[in-house]
Amino acid sequence: MLIRRATPDDSMPLAAMIQHTVWVSNTPDYGAENTHRVMGHFTPESVATMMSKRSTYVAVDGHRILGTASIGPGVHTEEIGLRTFFVDPGCQRQGVGAALMAQILSDAQNLKLSQLPVRSSIIAEPFYARHGFAKIEDIWDGDERTILMIKPL
Ligand SMILES: CC(C)(COP(=O)(O)OP(=O)(O)OC[C@H]1O[C@@H](n2cnc3c(N)ncnc32)[C@H](O)[C@@H]1OP(=O)(O)O)[C@@H](O)C(=O)NCCC(=O)NCCS
Repeated sequence: MLIRRATPDDSMPLAAMIQHTVWVSNTPDYGAENTHRVMGHFTPESVATMMSKRSTYVAVDGHRILGTASIGPGVHTEEIGLRTFFVDPGCQRQGVGAALMAQILSDAQNLKLSQLPVRSSIIAEPFYARHGFAKIEDIWDGDERTILMIKPL
């Protein structure tokens, strides 16, 4: 497995991997309707736009994209945070997320950030907790709960 910068050529397979991951991993917590809405945010075009605004990494095995993570501003905030963190369901719990996290933390250190926020999904909370993120608060968007977590740096 290799961690490298995502390139515009990755947009289509990356969007497909993210949509698949959201569908398989997040539907049990958020339901099909909410999950479909979230999947709609990850078209190849929107993934390419996100890449232009944030430092985006992919974990690859040859041509196969195993996971992705990015660091940069959010959709509604300029604050630098951990964004768009997904590992293909077939490769979860094998250390891909940990390798991507190491890359993001190295970037955060280079940017001299004092803290790194993430808006965690329900299923990802134990993963972020294991990596030193503390829960700040639940954020409700209708009946959809995400968790604001922060890692002091
Ligand atoms: C969260 C996610 C990125 C973690 O990636 P990963 O490659 O599975 O993570 P790792 O293999 O590096 O996991 C390291 C540790 O994190 C913890 N962890 C990871 N996923 C977990 C889960 N679902 N439940 C409990 N602990 C978990 C475990 O301690 C794990 O170590 P272990 O396997 O030895 O028990 C990945 O599971 C994922 O994409 N989830 C679905 C999409 C999502 O919700 N993304 C977050 C958006 S904010």
